[in-house]
Amino acid sequence: KKVYLETFGCQMNVSDSERIATRLVADGFEMIQDENLADVVLLNTCSVREKAEHKIFTRIGQIRKDLAKKPVLGLLGCVAQLEGETLFQKHSGIDFVLGTKAVGRISETIEKVFGGASEIYDLDDREADYDWSVADAQRHSPYIAFVPIIEGCNKFCTYCIVPFARGREKSLPATEIIRHVSNLRRIGIREVHLIGQNVNSYRPPAESGLEGFRGATAFSRLLRAVAATGIERVKFTTSFPRDFHPDIVAALDENENLCNWVHLPVQSGSNRILKAMRRGHTIESYLERIDVIKASRRRIALTTDLIVGYPGETEEDFSATLAVAEYCKFNSAYYFKYSPRPGTPAFDLPDNVSPMEKTERFIRLDKLIRFHQREVFQSYVGRTLEVLAEKVSPKHPDQITGHSTCQMVVNFTGAADFLGKTVKVKITESKVNTLYGKIA
Ligand code: 5AD
Ligand code: SF4
Repeated sequence: KKVYLETFGCQMNVSDSERIATRLVADGFEMIQDENLADVVLLNTCSVREKAEHKIFTRIGQIRKDLAKKPVLGLLGCVAQLEGETLFQKHSGIDFVLGTKAVGRISETIEKVFGGASEIYDLDDREADYDWSVADAQRHSPYIAFVPIIEGCNKFCTYCIVPFARGREKSLPATEIIRHVSNLRRIGIREVHLIGQNVNSYRPPAESGLEGFRGATAFSRLLRAVAATGIERVKFTTSFPRDFHPDIVAALDENENLCNWVHLPVQSGSNRILKAMRRGHTIESYLERIDVIKASRRRIALTTDLIVGYPGETEEDFSATLAVAEYCKFNSAYYFKYSPRPGTPAFDLPDNVSPMEKTERFIRLDKLIRFHQREVFQSYVGRTLEVLAEKVSPKHPDQITGHSTCQMVVNFTGAADFLGKTVKVKITESKVNTLYGKIA
């Protein structure tokens, strides 16, 4: 049977999809890229904002209408976990729903549908061993691997659906993470991303594997341990301001292979709003972290997430958000209009910043961030960055595109024989979202 799997949302979903596809192939299914030929279509879904969820429902409609073959349709991921069996009433044509902790039972569920069962849903978290295996053919990149270190979230920021979709924090054993990274290095992976909703609260049940590594927190000990595997580049995301210990920056300073990029979502610049969001940090404590990052021996690139139009956000609150963007000079930022998510604490608050105001604030923030971004990008011109050659540029076939250690997208003139290598690139030009350069 041929399976087509489409992934929405964050790296955790991408990582889950890699493991799901690996499992399916091991169980005798064939993964294909053309949905028209599929016997089974799987959507690995995201529900972080209403728009993301809407996209899924549009896709369900398209699949049901457009695909002549009428494949079995299964929903996985966060929408599946949150809405469960109610999805069968809301949308016709869904054959099964499998929650975020139930994907280990994917093959047997598909078999049940082929055996005649309908409307199967399984949201259980029946403890099974975490299966690390990802077949080479299922990797999102031949050179970069996502390595989950902690799943779920305990923070319960008022707007956020993630703790409900992904459950409580669960750290994976350090010994296994280290063994896994060493193995990835051996098979030629150049870069690993340690991923989790909040990597800084990494807290394994036992510290085995971390003995002998210094660090103020388990996460900074893990960083040093992963660095010691000798893998070429290590990145990590997402960090949470309150749990972001300065020792992380010390670890980066000590280890060249811990990359010079930190993603630290601030969400708002207003203490009043941060408090309403129950973020557990103030803007002052956030900026303290930023100062530590900026004082590093290397230049560390900084990225963030921001929300505009949280319930009760005034013009004054919003100005404070602009001021943070002004101060931090982010390399890049992801910003979103507040989207009420059913089931979250903020959902019950009046969504009282009008759509027009949200749009207007969004545009102002966008303008300011782009303005600074141009400046930040321009400041890389003349510098030499270490770039992993990831693929031939889709737009310019004579160019290779990849990411720098600081997670900037860099294009340089070169042929396919560079792919998979890290090269020094002297930056000659900066455009929107991309740096251009020549091999140094
Ligand atoms: N509305 C808008 N943005 C949100 N995010 C999370 N939940 C919401 C929501 N309800 C944003 C946050 C988070 C990023 C992954 O998505 O900025 O950091
Ligand atoms: Fe959501 Fe991130 Fe807060 Fe977790 S830490 S609740 S994922 S914003």
